[in-house]
Amino acid sequence: MEIRKVGVVGCGLMGSGIAQVSAMAGFPTLVREVSQELLNKGLASIEKSLAKLVEKGTLTAEQKAQTTSRLKPTLQLQDFADCDLVIEAIIENLDRKRQLFAELDSIVKPEALFASNTSSLSITEMMTATRRAARFLGLHFFNPVPLMALVEVVKTVVTEPEVVQSGVDFSRKLGKTPILTTDRAGFIVNRLLVPYLLDAVRALEEGFGAIEDIDQGMKLGCNHPMGPLTLLDFVGIDTTYYIAEILFNEYREKRFAPPPLMKRMVLAGMYGRKTGKGFYDYSDPKHPRVNKSLLL
Ligand code: 3HC
Repeated sequence: MEIRKVGVVGCGLMGSGIAQVSAMAGFPTLVREVSQELLNKGLASIEKSLAKLVEKGTLTAEQKAQTTSRLKPTLQLQDFADCDLVIEAIIENLDRKRQLFAELDSIVKPEALFASNTSSLSITEMMTATRRAARFLGLHFFNPVPLMALVEVVKTVVTEPEVVQSGVDFSRKLGKTPILTTDRAGFIVNRLLVPYLLDAVRALEEGFGAIEDIDQGMKLGCNHPMGPLTLLDFVGIDTTYYIAEILFNEYREKRFAPPPLMKRMVLAGMYGRKTGKGFYDYSDPKHPRVNKSLLL
């Protein structure tokens, strides 16, 4: 099935990035939020990202203007009726996602494809809220979406092969590299990444090294772009904690269990960059310092 018009539900960190790359790739793209305030916030982050890409020479000013003209912000799900592909990127809450997909199912033309950008919730459980199980898949993007090259294309036990192929083709049109995976919590990347991040927190708890040394170890010793504790602050300690709980519930394996320090940090509101404090203190965002309150 040819994808001509795209709808993205949610204009937060991931939704805004997905809407941006879809519009950059030439697709007329609708993006919906629940309030004008959230919509404005998401659109401002798209504008900032596009300006950065122009500044770096990745995009011309004309391409930026064309991208913006292809983006249609809305507060109404009804506007999605004639979309060929709808990608959901709302809060990671299964009930909310099921509710949304059930509503979309009654609005959007029956031949359209539905995709979720969930990082760890079950695509199969979302799909059962609709009458288009065979046309339902996962399209998992990575943060920051405009810079990260990967999309995980997730098939359930009933996704039609042509639908999977459409997901692969669409990801390629966005300039991304798709990889295929099945509907199991964490798919490929978070299945491998999350235990590593949790282990970095355990290494800190067990006194293997200081925060900066653990990060430098993996940056300089393994050429990772960010150390694991910096990456935790970037992704969100709350988000990673939540994903770890889902993985633990699915697999019942100790390596997916969030370590005690992480739980305390979440309870204390130390979510990382977004709240200004995590393993690092971002009072001066360009020069993060170690969060001293974590030291003994
Ligand atoms: N749009 C446009 N430009 C952006 C941007 C965006 N959304 N975000 C950052 N940039 C810009 C930066 O502002 C910077 O510009 P500058 O050079 O003018 O300051 C430029 O891109 C490059 O950034 P930096 O030079 O600061 O840093 P890097 O070269 O290290 O690149 C990075 C930044 C791509 C984020 C890199 O550090 C990286 O790859 N980090 C790891 C990210 C990662 O692992 N993401 C996956 C997380 S897991 C996930 O998403 C799954 C989910 O389910 C949890």
